[in-house]
Amino acid sequence: MDERLQQYVTELFAVEDPILAAIRARHAAAELPPIHISPDEGKLLGLLLLAIQASTVLEIGSLGGYSGVWLARALPANGRLTTIEKDPRHARIARQAFAEAGLEARVRLIEGAALDVLPTLTPGFDAVFVDADKEPLAQYFDWSMRLLRPGGLLLCDNAFFHGAAIDPADRSGAAEGVRAFNRLAANDPRLVATIVPVRDGLVVGVKVKE
Ligand code: DHB
Ligand code: MG
Repeated sequence: MDERLQQYVTELFAVEDPILAAIRARHAAAELPPIHISPDEGKLLGLLLLAIQASTVLEIGSLGGYSGVWLARALPANGRLTTIEKDPRHARIARQAFAEAGLEARVRLIEGAALDVLPTLTPGFDAVFVDADKEPLAQYFDWSMRLLRPGGLLLCDNAFFHGAAIDPADRSGAAEGVRAFNRLAANDPRLVATIVPVRDGLVVGVKVKE
């Protein structure tokens, strides 16, 4: 999206409260990679969860907890965000973010590599948000589809991957992973999906059958 239009949307619809702003500032101060979602994307994720009245959400890739706060805030008090993070430093910062936002009771952070953790989870999630390393995205797609309930939402960040998705010269594992995920999302008969061009592209899909 054009940056000025993104700013317009953000200023009108996705103004951060002091808690989110502080989490983002600490994120920068801790020199986490500057790859967290944007406020307008967070607002969209939250409203999609509200639209389906989600109460159980799985996030693959917590980073510093910024997206997790947007997700968990959209859940009812007895809802549960399960979020997976393999980097212990990121996990520590994310836990702090959830505590600051008063969301500890609603968030379960599991430290570990997603491909080790995913097989231990019980299926039936209302939504899965994939925002982790890009190379294994085809495997994350398979696990997400297995863990989602029928009618659940499949969400995946970085569908455009800074344009790499449509750059045939980019044969990197990350670009190939993004393209593979997008192809699977587009063609899997169990899913109705598209890409919403917010920030770096967000795959949004509904699992319509098992
Ligand atoms: C990058 C951006 C992301 O949002 C992400 O999840 C992973 C990587 C990047 O810019 O490289
Ligand atoms: Mg991302």
